[in-house]
Amino acid sequence: MTAATQPSATSELQELLSSSSTRVEATIDAALSNSTANTLIAAMRYAALGPGKRLRPALVYAVASTFAGPEILDNCDSAAAALECIHAYSLIHDDLPAMDNDDLRRGRATCHIQFDEASAILAGDALQTQAFELLLNAPHSDQLKLQLLSELANASGVRGMVAGQAMDLAAVGKVLDLAQLQQMHQLKTGALISAAARMGALISDANSHQRMAINEYAKAIGLAFQVQDDILDVTTDTDTLGKAQGADAARKKPTYISLLGFDGAHSKAQKLHDGASAALSRLGGDTRLLQALADYIIRRNY
Ligand code: IPE
Ligand code: IPE
Ligand code: MG
Ligand code: MG
Ligand code: MG
Repeated sequence: MTAATQPSATSELQELLSSSSTRVEATIDAALSNSTANTLIAAMRYAALGPGKRLRPALVYAVASTFAGPEILDNCDSAAAALECIHAYSLIHDDLPAMDNDDLRRGRATCHIQFDEASAILAGDALQTQAFELLLNAPHSDQLKLQLLSELANASGVRGMVAGQAMDLAAVGKVLDLAQLQQMHQLKTGALISAAARMGALISDANSHQRMAINEYAKAIGLAFQVQDDILDVTTDTDTLGKAQGADAARKKPTYISLLGFDGAHSKAQKLHDGASAALSRLGGDTRLLQALADYIIRRNY
């Protein structure tokens, strides 16, 4: 029996997801409320404060509190909000007509449908720089700020999410081999999820043994998250998903499902989950919350 199947771990996970949402929304709300109200701000708020799962913030809080207890949570708010701003920007741009051309996100019109394309592009641009501003203004030492900024920049740009998105667009209509598919998924989705865990470890001043185990855990769950996203695109209806079911096949995207079929994709997700659990067991201590998050990533239905 894994930890998440125990009622205490399940309720801890629910509490984590809910408190992460509250914290990150308050931080982003404050960052975006003292500017003059205009379409740009409205589009940024629409995308960043919409009803997302807030998984990346939850990872920052979960990793940091695993190493430093609940007192560390206030110190995580800027990093958690910065990650969510990058994530929200990536979704705005991912949905644009030139990219995945989606109309529905989180059960609502995508940003470029709700506003217009130019506003959506600019809202994405501004959320990206907002992320770095949040970290620059964080209550950390200069050294920690530099480490966090470096993690976020690496995970977001040409060595991370944007590189993965470029591979994704170049791969439309093509058959990738498993190594190429894995690299694309790791970059477009895994990099930011890994950064969230690594930033939580930096904020809580984890030692090198702890950081190594967390990196391994994060790499596994980051990839597992996108494998599960590919699975849900096929198995979950549009209402539950909050985005159009079957969008990947309609756009001829190479995915774990298109390459390995449902069973193959499912066992890949399970294998990654087991790798994450093995990393946690090397970590020792109370890792129930991190285990529950890993369980959630491959069991979620949206
Ligand atoms: C969707 O991410 C895009 C991917 C990287 C697969 P999420 O599933 O975390 O989206 P929200 O934030 O909960 O809407
Ligand atoms: C998106 O992958 C990854 C990002 C960097 C946004 P997808 O294109 O599969 O995400 P969804 O399914 O639209 O949320
Ligand atoms: Mg995409
Ligand atoms: Mg998409
Ligand atoms: Mg998808």
